[in-house]
Amino acid sequence: MPFGFIKDISLKGSCLVAGLDIGSTKVCAVIGEVIYPERGWQGNPGSAKAGAINVIGSGTVVSNGIKKGVITNMEGIVEAVREAVREAERSAGAVVKNINAGITGGHIGCLASHGVIAIKDREIKAREIESVLEAARAVAIPFDREILHVIPVDYTVDGQRGISNPRGMIGIRLETDVQIITGAAGIVKTLARSCQKAGIEISEIVLNPLASADALLTTDEKERGVAVFDIGGGTTDMAMFRDGALCHSGVITLGGSNFTNDIAIGLRIPSNEAEAVKIKYGCTMLSHADAGGTAEIGPAANSRSIPRSYIAEILQPRAEELLQLLREQLISANLHKDMNAGIVLTGGGALMKGMDAMAENILELPVRIGSPGQDGLLDEKLCNPEFSTCIGLMGYGTREHLRGFSADGRGMMQNIRVRISDLARIFRH
Ligand SMILES: Nc1ncnc2c1ncn2[C@@H]1O[C@H](COP(=O)(O)OP(=O)(O)OP(=O)(O)O)[C@@H](O)[C@H]1O
Ligand SMILES: [Mg+2]
Repeated sequence: MPFGFIKDISLKGSCLVAGLDIGSTKVCAVIGEVIYPERGWQGNPGSAKAGAINVIGSGTVVSNGIKKGVITNMEGIVEAVREAVREAERSAGAVVKNINAGITGGHIGCLASHGVIAIKDREIKAREIESVLEAARAVAIPFDREILHVIPVDYTVDGQRGISNPRGMIGIRLETDVQIITGAAGIVKTLARSCQKAGIEISEIVLNPLASADALLTTDEKERGVAVFDIGGGTTDMAMFRDGALCHSGVITLGGSNFTNDIAIGLRIPSNEAEAVKIKYGCTMLSHADAGGTAEIGPAANSRSIPRSYIAEILQPRAEELLQLLREQLISANLHKDMNAGIVLTGGGALMKGMDAMAENILELPVRIGSPGQDGLLDEKLCNPEFSTCIGLMGYGTREHLRGFSADGRGMMQNIRVRISDLARIFRH
């Protein structure tokens, strides 16, 4: 069944959805129950009642075998996926058949494209929208790349630009601007195969920052211009929105593990101790560090005391490097001046003390830390920036599905077929 739905949606007032985030630090699975509208329901799909998702189970295990978004030990990942999904199923009391899986890494690419078609019967229906998106995706992609997403930015009907949903409009020429997101074919297939080996079928492979954005951003922020930066363990994932639509995305292969390595080298301690020191005492700004305070380093029986300012001195240059790279991304994509709603920092790395204040200084934009569950429907342990991606993956596509359901459902079913045929191709090769 499409979109990670694992119950019969036609008879019940609810259905289940599931997301799987295979991160560099943790592998996490979440299962949620969608508050499903009645048949014939014509309400707003964005309303709290329709499409709200109640998380009913989750499972998190330590990730062993993924570096900077790329699988380096497939057996380790298969085991971790199996374990995380099993734990989520146990707590939910349900069985996962399909899941939305996330992807990231330096191999991810993003390009803009344009599609044009003539409208046969003058009226734009789901079929015409699908055709114009197919026309836009017909660009030369190297054989070693897979298309992950074709995301409409806007539509133009008979020269009138800036249309977000042309369905039902009358015209003779339909155009669209899209963002095409691609990944290295081998890496995408290895991810799909790992899930298959763990006994999980993927509904959709979703770019991680799109999922994080789904979990965190409001429609108003997307309209005004906003960027979400997800600072994970191995990568920092970006998605920028303007005029309500995605306008740029990317991945930087720098994340929390670089900070940990810097501490391990700077203080000459093992990585696991460096990680603990970072979580307990880490601060990215010397001016924010507890100047007079000390930090206990090493095992309790044999610990030594160092000034906390030493740790900030190690972390500050790395944080500056990361934030400068993010600033360069905004400027080179010509988006810095358009981010009127500012920046949302998320991922575990956003929890480091001083990160938000430093981001405001370097990016010269308002910054907030984004945690999922602002609607109050989430278990407290998941209301943490580390789970933004997984929560977003779980619900990804649900609103579109509901929109299709509330109208005639046909458009959505056709989209689903396109997506399933894409996935079938990935599994075949
Ligand atoms: N309180 C904290 N202070 C500093 N860093 C933290 C804190 N909590 C978590 N982190 C860091 O966040 C990182 C993990 O974040 P997250 O769980 O979002 O990564 P991931 O999704 O597994 O990795 P990736 O997205 O790169 O694949 C680790 O480097 C961890 O050290
Ligand atoms: Mg992540």
